[in-house]
Formats: sequence, C-alpha cells, structure tokens
Amino acid sequence: MKNPRAKHNFQGRTCSITGVGSYVPEKILTNAELEKMVETTDEWIISRTGIKERRIAAANEFTSDLASKAAARAMKMAGITAGQIDLIIVATLTPDMPFPSTACFVQRKIGAARAAAFDIEAACSGFIYALEIGQQFIMSRTYETVLVVGAEKLSSIVNWKDRNTCVLFGDGAGAAILQHRENSHGLLTAVMGADGNKADLLSMPGGGSACPATLTSVADGLHFLRMDGKETFKNAVQAMVSAAHEAMRRCEIDITKIKCVIPHQANQRIIDAVSDRLKTTPEQLFINLHKYGNTSAASVAIALDEAVASGKILRGDLILLVVFGAGLTWGAAVIEW
Ligand code: UT7
Repeated sequence: MKNPRAKHNFQGRTCSITGVGSYVPEKILTNAELEKMVETTDEWIISRTGIKERRIAAANEFTSDLASKAAARAMKMAGITAGQIDLIIVATLTPDMPFPSTACFVQRKIGAARAAAFDIEAACSGFIYALEIGQQFIMSRTYETVLVVGAEKLSSIVNWKDRNTCVLFGDGAGAAILQHRENSHGLLTAVMGADGNKADLLSMPGGGSACPATLTSVADGLHFLRMDGKETFKNAVQAMVSAAHEAMRRCEIDITKIKCVIPHQANQRIIDAVSDRLKTTPEQLFINLHKYGNTSAASVAIALDEAVASGKILRGDLILLVVFGAGLTWGAAVIEW
C-alpha cells in the first residue's frame, strides 16, 4: 500500500479519524405509513430501493441539533472536549437557514468557543468533500483538531405529495473528529469530482438568488427537492465506480485489500450495480439504507459510525467510502482505520 499524500512533503504529518458518532431522530416513518400518504406500496419501495423505513426530525429539531448530537458522540469517542476543536465543517444541503452557517449554530450548541466554523454544500457527496477539506488543515499543521459533520433534515424540503421522491429520503447526522496520530496513515486519499452540466438532474430551484421566495415560487413547489431518478441512477453508478477505482489506484491497492466498502446509501440497486462492477463481496459491504433511506451528506457518515460500532472495522483496516450526489458531485476516500 502506498500513501499518496507522501509526495506532498508534509513531513510525515497524517490525518486520522480519532472519533466518529451519529444521531438519527426518534420518529420512524415506515413504508406502511407512506402507503397512507401517497399512492405507493411497501413492495414497490423495497423492490425499487431497499428502503423499509426512515427517520423524521421533530418540528423543533433542526439540522444543527442533529449535527450537534452526532458531534458530541464523536468527541466522546475521540476523548476530546469542545474547547479543543479548532474548526467545524458541516456538510449539508438542508442548513438551518441560508445564513448564518449551520456550523456556527453547531459551534454554539456544543460550546466549541475557539472553533472557526463554516458549511460546505456538495449534496450527498458532502461528507467526503468535508473530510478532504478538514484533512488539508490537519496536514498543513494549521489546526490540531477538526470536527467534520454530515447532517440533513431532508424532510423539510421533501414534497410529501410526490411519490417519486418522498419515499426515498430521511433525516440524520454523522460526525468525525480529525487529528494527527503518530504511526497511523489515516485518510490516505480522497477523490472529488463534479459535473455542473448535469446540475438540473437533482435540485431545489427555489430560495436562492436565481429564484427568491415569492408566493408564486411557493405555489409552484420550487422549494421542494426534485429529481430525474432514472438519469441520476445511471450517472451515480458510473461516477461511483470510477471514483472508487481512482482512489484505489492512487493507493496502489485493489478491492481485495479493502476490509469495508461504505457506499452512499441511496438505493440498494445502485449499491448492487456498483459492488458488481467493483467486485466487492457481500462481507465487504456495509449497508444501513433499509433503516434510514437516503440521508444525503449524513449517509456515509452514519454508516461509518455504525460499521465501527458493529466491530466490522478494526484499527489498521482499510475502508473505502464512495459517494454520489446532486451537482452532480461524486467522491471516494480510502481510510486506514
Ligand atoms: O442521493 C443521490 C441521488 N439520488 C439517487 O441516487 C436516486 C437515483 N434513482 C433511483 O434510485 C430510482 O430511479 C428511483 C428509486 C427514484 C425510481 O426507480 P425507477 O426504477 O427508476 O422507477 P421509475 O422512475 O422508472 O418509475 C417507474 C414507475 C413509474 O410509473 P409509470 O410511469 O411506469 O407508470 C413511476 O410513476 O414507478 C412509479 N413510481 C412509483 N410507484 C409506486 C415512482 N415512485 C413510486 C412510488 N410508488 N413511490
């Protein structure tokens, strides 16, 4: 195995994930309950997506609340206090509000008084983008401790009358603490990609400078998420496979060296198609899609925490994260745990 970062001459400075944590809201929305809301069936949802239920945040529970709870668990595992955090990066497409950033609300809620804070938006690819950004600050010795969170309250932008999308998404958050650790390679590489030509495949057109909120924009449903499912599906498989290959090529490893593959939890059929092409074994794959649906930026972050908690990943194991989302964006990361 090669450490692709070595060539950047960071004098042995590596970036490890020293703690992970996740949080999902208590309320469970089952497929049976969705059958009463839109014209759908449990059978259709499971056979087309693999999703059985998803979590829905309470009305007074915002993205920053989910993020703060996940962050507290990651801090506990890393054995740090909020006062030690130098930087908070929140990846989300459902911020508490357009500004200030959700990261600033998290900073206040967890009491990380010293920390700088900002959000990044790369849709479902956000957690890998945020890990890569956070890692740069650790490796350059700018900061010692970075909190990275992927958090979403997608239930706030889902059109609950649109069966094409409302059955797919859920709320939740996952967090990681990044620090340098002696004798650990940590985050070996992160591939990030984007194709803005396909931005229309998955978007929420209303609420930004292109289409500020008006009575008409609300009436036209422009503040809801919309998606061309079929085209998104095709692009997802292609982009995830090539990102995963590129990440492994950089580390000079093949799929057999990976202990655990954690794909973006969007659709079981996408995961199957990707793992088919990557030639992963069922034992390598970690899947929690059936419990949470697609939680966008939180998806692989929650799955990473659950994979670690389940004992599937042990220190020294190689993990492959691979993601895809609106933008279009994609990414893959190889981590030595
Ligand atoms: O996070 C990253 C971004 N998102 C994704 O990765 C999602 C990617 N896309 C997908 O996962 C799939 O395309 C979907 C699950 C969204 C849809 O599956 P599909 O096999 O592509 O179905 P479809 O869109 O071709 O729809 C097939 C039929 C349609 O009916 P007609 O036109 O054939 O009569 C839909 O109206 O299924 C209908 N349909 C539903 N039926 C029952 C769509 N949604 C539902 C539903 N229940 N919830």
